[in-house]
Amino acid sequence: MKRDITLIGQSALITQLKQFALQVAATDITVLIIGETGSGKEVLARFIHANSLRANKNFVPVNCGAIPVGILESELFGHEKGAFTGAVQSRKGYFESADRGTIFLDEIGEMPLETQVKFLRVIETGEFQRVGSSKTIYSDARIIAATNKNMYKAVAEKNFREDLFYRLRSVELQIPPLRERARDILLLTETFVHEFATKHNIVFEGFSPEAAEMLMRYTWPGNVRELRNLIESLLVIEKGIYITPDILEKHLVQRNRYKSLVHDPAKSEKNELQVMFSNIIQLRQEVSEIRQLLQLLLQNKPMGPLLLPHATVTPPPQNYPALMPPQPQEEPAKQYSLDEIEKKSIAEALERCNGNKRKTALALGITERTLHRKIKSYGL
Ligand SMILES: Nc1ncnc2c1ncn2[C@@H]1O[C@H](COP(=O)(O)OP(=O)(O)OP(=O)(O)O)[C@@H](O)[C@H]1O
Ligand SMILES: [Mg+2]
Repeated sequence: MKRDITLIGQSALITQLKQFALQVAATDITVLIIGETGSGKEVLARFIHANSLRANKNFVPVNCGAIPVGILESELFGHEKGAFTGAVQSRKGYFESADRGTIFLDEIGEMPLETQVKFLRVIETGEFQRVGSSKTIYSDARIIAATNKNMYKAVAEKNFREDLFYRLRSVELQIPPLRERARDILLLTETFVHEFATKHNIVFEGFSPEAAEMLMRYTWPGNVRELRNLIESLLVIEKGIYITPDILEKHLVQRNRYKSLVHDPAKSEKNELQVMFSNIIQLRQEVSEIRQLLQLLLQNKPMGPLLLPHATVTPPPQNYPALMPPQPQEEPAKQYSLDEIEKKSIAEALERCNGNKRKTALALGITERTLHRKIKSYGL
């Protein structure tokens, strides 16, 4: 059953949006609607169509993201019999069906680049050909497109044609997310309660004031769609009983728990990268410390302050003992492992700085945290 199209909302943001949409509706201008998922982009598109001179013609919604790339063109522009395997008869496309009405292109950001080229021509001239035909057809369809994607990013990444983007957004309408229009939450709740109480034949006892406040404070990541689904499940599952914050919370938590279980590959990839970067930084710091120590050792120099860019330079004490006193030629030099060298250097630097860890860290050109860690691991 088809529901009536009403754009519910009394908040200042929605009132303003409705006024603007009514002005736009009176013209044939192309409109781009931007808004988060479930915020009412299709409702707004239908509102514009219903208030336009085309209201008694077709409103044809097309979800560009849901139609497989291979058949999107034949769906939009139609095809001739035998145009491809399976095309057993000719078919009208959505553009032809929307002639003198409105075509609503949802998730426009998902439209493949090849289709975008043809689509730009349709917007500019109204002309196109069915797949498998060279005959030019004309359609006077008003175009409304919608997206929840960041189109500037898609354009910058060359996934969406810049010329098409600017042509589409002759007028841009932004639907604010539900959390920014708290005043509409209770009004929408009332409407949905009425709708589902009637549909499921339920007598609803209402919300407690605290539960109503909870509805207003929730962030609604799924916007109006989430609110609508919540109200239906609250009424059906709880059989119309008085809704307290406990009951409401249980339903909201169930939704969020499901969300947190949803794997977000982009997010986990980002976390992995962050961990990798911090490991690389740590590793580089350690390599640089070791290199400095080795250089000093090879030059057989006394351990002065290490000259790292951020280290304060203090002149080395005059009578500072060499790290490794010159060995008699005939005796083979004692072999130290890197750890031993490092341990020795730290111990000596500590001694030189009278145990002051801040000064020691500064002199060694390492952070105090790294110094603490090394003192602990070498048992100094
Ligand atoms: N202002 C509103 N008044 C009444 N119902 C609304 C309103 N906004 C949204 N809805 C309802 O919320 C649901 C989602 O709306 P709609 O499909 O228009 O959102 P959308 O932004 O197109 O979502 P998506 O990004 O998933 O395509 C629908 O059931 C719709 O009827
Ligand atoms: Mg939609």
